[in-house]
Amino acid sequence: MKIPRLLQAVLVLLGVYFGFILLFDVILKQVIPSSLLNMYMFFVVAGVFMVFTFTEEGAKELLAPIKALVEDPNNKTNRNIVFIILPLLGGAYTYNKLLPSFDAPVELRTIHPAPPASLKAYGKRYDILNLENPYRKFEKEDPERFKELIAEGGAVYIRNCQYCHGDKLDGKGPYAQGLNPMPMNFQDVGTIAQLQESYLFWRIASGGPGLPKEASPWISSMPVWQDFLSEEEIWKVILYLYDYTGHRPRTWGEE
Ligand code: HEC
Repeated sequence: MKIPRLLQAVLVLLGVYFGFILLFDVILKQVIPSSLLNMYMFFVVAGVFMVFTFTEEGAKELLAPIKALVEDPNNKTNRNIVFIILPLLGGAYTYNKLLPSFDAPVELRTIHPAPPASLKAYGKRYDILNLENPYRKFEKEDPERFKELIAEGGAVYIRNCQYCHGDKLDGKGPYAQGLNPMPMNFQDVGTIAQLQESYLFWRIASGGPGLPKEASPWISSMPVWQDFLSEEEIWKVILYLYDYTGHRPRTWGEE
């Protein structure tokens, strides 16, 4: 039996649609954003329509079932289903969509935007790519001094940061509940363990206002610490963040 052309077209579209999903989800293990999928499908639908209506007969055959549905006197029941029930279902769907929703908006925030190439702070310009923690070398060269530096960093932390980031560095400080976005949980492997010390220096020195546009629309309450702390204090508090959580800073060139 020959498959009607309308059904053929629908099958091709479904095949391509699930083909995309199979390719991305199962083979490449990447989620495909629905906006992208919609865009692909738009072109696929346009393409399929062009191919199926390329010849006059083809176009007629494609539309034949629709024509029959509208014109054939024996099709009364089907017509009633299509022209009464479907619009009602569509109306119900639209009505539900119009009801207010109390869910948080699904806009995504870029939590770790790319840092700018350079940072202006303390009257200097820092080249973030080549910036290193000047105290990191003591970890090997002078472990005693390194311990003192961490303790000094800890004091800076308790005096300034724990209100938001928590005394266990888990992002659960006393102010945390009132903030959106929430303060970072440094224990989580998705934060400082993924980042270079220079990145932290940039984020701490320039705070929420230093974030680039892609980190909006949220307004981060992270203060601009270059106004309150010295450069040395920032480097020391960074040592403390890594020491307390047991994470290692990421270094350039490492995956
Ligand atoms: C008023 C609350 C508040 C205080 C105080 C505060 N922070 Fe934050 N901090 C935040 C919030 C909220 C975020 C998450 C939003 C963002 O990335 O800006 C954040 C983010 C960060 C990040 C970025 C981490 C990442 O994974 O990108 C670092 C690093 C950081 N804070 C360090 C500090 C340090 C160090 C101090 C103390 C000197 C401090 N913060 C004090 C609210 C605060």
